[in-house]
Amino acid sequence: MRHVTADTLTQTFLDYCGPETSPRLRFLLEHLAKHLHTFVRETGLTHAEWRKAIELLTKTGEITDDERNEFVLFSDVLGVSSLVDMVNSKPDATSSSVLGPFHILGAPPLAYGGDLKNDNDGATVVVKGAVRDPAGNPISGAEIEIWQTADNGLYSNQDPQQPEYNLRARLTARDNGDYAFTTVRPAPYTVPDDGPVGELLHATGRHPWRPSHLHFIVMAPGYRTLVTEVFPSDDPYLDEDAVFGVRSDLIMNYVEQTDRNLVPEDFEAKPRLTSPYYTVDFDFVLAADTSE
Ligand code: BEZ
Ligand code: FE
Repeated sequence: MRHVTADTLTQTFLDYCGPETSPRLRFLLEHLAKHLHTFVRETGLTHAEWRKAIELLTKTGEITDDERNEFVLFSDVLGVSSLVDMVNSKPDATSSSVLGPFHILGAPPLAYGGDLKNDNDGATVVVKGAVRDPAGNPISGAEIEIWQTADNGLYSNQDPQQPEYNLRARLTARDNGDYAFTTVRPAPYTVPDDGPVGELLHATGRHPWRPSHLHFIVMAPGYRTLVTEVFPSDDPYLDEDAVFGVRSDLIMNYVEQTDRNLVPEDFEAKPRLTSPYYTVDFDFVLAADTSE
């Protein structure tokens, strides 16, 4: 094409894709080019604005390392991570939600009724529920991974004062699908806003806060792995999560309790349980894995 115009550029780009382009890649590129080119045409994007965008992307690359991925954070605050979750979710399963950057491999196992709170400051929460399939049948042996912030709003890998695996564990659902553990109430926290993502948030008057949450990964053979988070109904940031992770089925209630007898004798934290404490009931529903 010798004379490309604003009207013919998108098609010209697609014509450049050779026969080795897989159908799915062609489909994705077709839509990507269409929307990107339309964005430029419709906004009348100036050279200065595009230069600024490239500068922001360059800074995003410069600040990204093994510990911090600013590209993922951009995807999060632009709502792309959540949208990918939404378009891939199954209506009869628990909603998925962002993984976030603070998950680490190797969390230690915790028995049914085990305690994660230990010496952590904050109110004790007894979390229990079951893992089920969409028909309500228990998924025995499901693996449940949990991680969360301490009372100071920091994950163990952000805070040198916390042991490496503080407030992180792997549980196994019992035969009836039940799981239970005690922990501490997590605190709301901010996503990192000292880089290019922060520049965007500040320029648009957005705050970097996320509502407090418990992160979970729930897996069982034959089922789609669920990556999700669970949020308390009384959190002040529930309706303004910086990364759009909240879904109505992921909201739980902290129920204040004063009767210690409600906690079974074999729960590890029972002897040191102080009143008041809180209970949370949350069930997970896993969709069947139909990918094979
Ligand atoms: C988190 O929940 O840990 C998180 C998610 C997205 C961006 C930053 C943090
Ligand atoms: Fe988090």
